Amino acid sequence: MTDLNQLETDLLKQVEAASDEPALEALRVAALGKKGFVSELLKTLGAMSPEERKEKGPLINGLRDKVQGALGAKKDALAEAALEARLSAERLDVTLPVQDGPEIRGRIHPISQVIDEITAIFADMGFHVAEGPDIETDYLNFTALNFPEGHPAREMHDTFFLAPDEKGERKVLRTHTSPVQIRTMKTQAPPIRVVIPGRTYRHDSDQTHTPMFHQVEGLVIDETANIAHMKWVLEEFCKAFFEVDQVKMRFRPSFFPFTEPSAEVDIQCSRKGGEIRFGEGTDWLEILGCGMVHPNVLRNCGLDPDKVQGFAWGMGIDRIAMLKYGMPDLRPFFEADVRWLNHYGFRPLDIPSLVGGLSS
Ligand code: DAH
Repeated sequence: MTDLNQLETDLLKQVEAASDEPALEALRVAALGKKGFVSELLKTLGAMSPEERKEKGPLINGLRDKVQGALGAKKDALAEAALEARLSAERLDVTLPVQDGPEIRGRIHPISQVIDEITAIFADMGFHVAEGPDIETDYLNFTALNFPEGHPAREMHDTFFLAPDEKGERKVLRTHTSPVQIRTMKTQAPPIRVVIPGRTYRHDSDQTHTPMFHQVEGLVIDETANIAHMKWVLEEFCKAFFEVDQVKMRFRPSFFPFTEPSAEVDIQCSRKGGEIRFGEGTDWLEILGCGMVHPNVLRNCGLDPDKVQGFAWGMGIDRIAMLKYGMPDLRPFFEADVRWLNHYGFRPLDIPSLVGGLSS
């Protein structure tokens, strides 16, 4: 019996000393597992005489119960200690100020905002968005748009030319979004109603010009589209974009090789106090070029000018962004200064829509 007492003392000591659950489990298996020594002792009961069993049975069973109890208690204690450790390690200070996430701190660049505003307005009138590449062939950027070889209008574009390829062809960085008109008319059958926002390039740099800038182009082609439709579309656009009830527009005769007749459009504004306001005043501000698509351009796209006709317009996105949001200098648009972006940028979740408001 000293054996059993000794065994019990040793076992209970070991259980107490176990530092984690795996160690405790190893002890349990060694004592109470199928081949554990307490289990082996229990098996000896069967071969004993009834008197001996009466005496040893309670002792061995008692040993098993004590070991079992000690194992259970230690297991609970270890689990509790683990929980305590986790709770103190993962402590949160709920009194700290809330930090804004990126969706609150981030800012949408005014150019992206204005492109979203423009596309929201024209989408509402049933236009699709079309896009084309920044590197363009000379043919699509000029020739197909009815700029004859050597015509001075080509020189006015201050074109960036790429090095000639093996066939001697010199690609250009597109000087306007108009080549996408050609790409659209060559691949889509009329009726066509598209707006074409994108990057454009000219060798020019000052307070209101950067070598890379943005334009948006519009094109409508069907059997009856005429100047009255064009004036309506442009007027509705200006009212929606500048968020005013009325805008006065002035169509001045002008020249573009790809439209005939062509016009430049001014809108009435007030410049009182150095601040430009639309929908009031007596000053004029030029905002876009437009016209009826030239029959040569239609022919270059495989369309018959006796069957279809249409109008187009183009304007500088950066310029109308500066006008609408009162930004005096174009160059910081492309300097990636976070302070400028924080000041002039827009909240990411305020997506422009005609229903929800364009710039609110
Ligand atoms: N492409 C012209 C430019 O960059 C702008 C323009 C004027 C586009 C008249 C048009 C248009 O589609 O009809 O100066």
